[in-house]
Amino acid sequence: MEESINEIKNKTLDEILNAKNLQEIEEIRVKALGKKGELTAILKMMGTLSEEDRPKIGALVNLAKAQITEKITEAENRFKEEEINKKLETEKIDVTLPSKKIIRGSKHPLNRVIEEIEDLFVSMGYDVASGPELETDEYCFERLNLPKGHPARDMQDSFYITTEYLLRTQTSAVQARTLMANKDKTPIREIVPGKTYRREDDATHSHQFNQVEALVVDENISFANLKATLEIFMKHILGENTKLRFRPSYFPFTEPSYEVDVSCFKCGGKGCNLCKNTGWIELLGAGMVHPNVLRMNGYDPNKYSGFAFGTGLDRLAMFKYGITDIRLLYENDIRFLKQFDRRDI
Ligand code: PHE
Repeated sequence: MEESINEIKNKTLDEILNAKNLQEIEEIRVKALGKKGELTAILKMMGTLSEEDRPKIGALVNLAKAQITEKITEAENRFKEEEINKKLETEKIDVTLPSKKIIRGSKHPLNRVIEEIEDLFVSMGYDVASGPELETDEYCFERLNLPKGHPARDMQDSFYITTEYLLRTQTSAVQARTLMANKDKTPIREIVPGKTYRREDDATHSHQFNQVEALVVDENISFANLKATLEIFMKHILGENTKLRFRPSYFPFTEPSYEVDVSCFKCGGKGCNLCKNTGWIELLGAGMVHPNVLRMNGYDPNKYSGFAFGTGLDRLAMFKYGITDIRLLYENDIRFLKQFDRRDI
């Protein structure tokens, strides 16, 4: 019996040495150690052995099993490694090949300007607010001191949807909404970037455009606050050398009202084709909130005062980036938009 154990062991170890792949190893394992394997058969015969032979033969079989198992594991590991190496060899990646070009989107110039303005005003403690583009006559006009039939309504050609609803002609509508929603609570400091609509049909105007509005209401708000705020705003967006000029104007919701010009950043105020040789570019409407507007929307004008201004974002973006045709902002031409991919402008 000892002999046949040794014979099985040696034969099996030999076979393991000569095996060519994992499958052959598995076959060898089954043949020697499997349920119907040769060594297993010997273990099954242990019952027929004498008391003294049994432990001897048992130890011998276990030793043979251990040796065979060890060699099988060794061989398996070797074949597995070979397989991996073969795979690595055939599935080689050529890292020197050019990669696929990734086409990245870029921020639209209008959004860049809006974000820049939002960051600036948020840093000064303002909220960023919004309101509906489909607005009521009440908020777009009436609560801004523009009753029905008021001649100043002709200043803005409106898209009426019904007699009560229209596409808002100005972000000023949100002024009234904010005041009504806060009813006597102060301070109010907000900016409102948003889309606005007017029935314009000449070549330099778009029927849809963008404005940003600002509203501040508190005790003791004065013209000095408006002036300082506009100076910070314009210098931040258009450059430190920008100068401001206030011209008396008229808006029903502010008193006094101004149109605000900035010094031409192309020629620095000397006069060029951009500023039509005046040295100035008209950019904003502004003023102190009209006492009627405060009163109508829940604020006591004897206690509170405020300022407001509004500007066209499209024009501002065009000036900032030297864009000469407003249509470029809305055509989504990738060749145009790609130029705003850079982080440093
Ligand atoms: N809403 C005005 C316009 O669209 C601009 C403006 C806003 C003027 C706030 C004064 C105060 O022309």
